[in-house]
Amino acid sequence: MPQNKLTDRFGRTVNYVRLSVTDRCDFRCVYCMAEDMTFLPRQQVLTLEEIARVARNFVDLGTEKIRLTGGEPLVRKDILELVKEIGTYGLRDFAMTTNGSQLTTMAEPLRKAGMHRLNISLDSLDAEKFRNITRTGKLSQVLDGIDAAREAGFRGIKINTVVMKGRNDEEIPELIEFARKKKVDISFIEEMPLGEISEHDRGLALCTSEEVRDIIRKHHELVPATEDSGGPARYYRMEDSETRVGFISPHSHNFCSTCNRVRVTVEGRLLLCLGNEHSVDLRRVLRGNPVTDDKLRETIINAMDLKPERHHFSSNGDVQILRFMNMTGG
Ligand code: 5AD
Ligand code: SF4
Repeated sequence: MPQNKLTDRFGRTVNYVRLSVTDRCDFRCVYCMAEDMTFLPRQQVLTLEEIARVARNFVDLGTEKIRLTGGEPLVRKDILELVKEIGTYGLRDFAMTTNGSQLTTMAEPLRKAGMHRLNISLDSLDAEKFRNITRTGKLSQVLDGIDAAREAGFRGIKINTVVMKGRNDEEIPELIEFARKKKVDISFIEEMPLGEISEHDRGLALCTSEEVRDIIRKHHELVPATEDSGGPARYYRMEDSETRVGFISPHSHNFCSTCNRVRVTVEGRLLLCLGNEHSVDLRRVLRGNPVTDDKLRETIINAMDLKPERHHFSSNGDVQILRFMNMTGG
């Protein structure tokens, strides 16, 4: 069976895997979680060894890029052990999405363990608004974390901002200036209807990438960047800065035709598409008797047939997907 590429029914090659390492988080961002969340019991969560095994088998099947997500990956105990292990797999790109709350102590160890790049969530530069959006987060801690990450020498650092009308849309120019000053990239994300939230009406809060671009263009000319990041963001450059500005537009721009990625939840569910419920249970295979890498790879290869052609998010705020983002990995 020596097949070293994962290809789906639509001819797309899957070479990018996002692994959620925990559903827990020290923040409770309004677009991601309910205020009181019940987290998964330990037996249902993959062990770090199981996650590494999944990662290694994906690499054997041609995966070149892995991103660790959550929840907040840095709240998982011994996460550095997993980073070190995956760091030995020779990936072209190894990245993590984090809320930045622990980077003052974790940035350097992560870099040393082999992590190449970080995406750090930052939705506001105003301490009170930041607190309102994250419910529990402390802005100064995250800003210090971003500085620690800059000093640690990552290949790339990107700020991720979910834009919501009435919450942080007025801060777009300031966030751009912040990214320029700190010499990091920044992506603006349209909120996706994942999980039922009560804090705002998603239909009303939706701020499209086009609206965000128009706001930025009042201050800076944006030139489309030619390179492809291999992710869903479309990038622009400004003439007088190294900072790239990305837009992730699940509503207004359908990026499904070039989708190269799949996700694995911390329960070991292989999700073929963020906007659909199709999934395959890898945990059952990982805990089967006997467990073999052959069986795991065969399950992954067969799962590719389930990858849907595209997602359909409606922009009226209706929830179509019941799982929250913390189950899936942002
Ligand atoms: N819509 C868009 N992005 C989301 N994230 C979490 N929930 C959502 C959502 N509903 C993203 C945020 C955060 C990352 C962990 O996941 O960008 O930075
Ligand atoms: Fe935590 Fe990220 Fe979800 Fe916010 S968006 S609650 S930081 S996992």
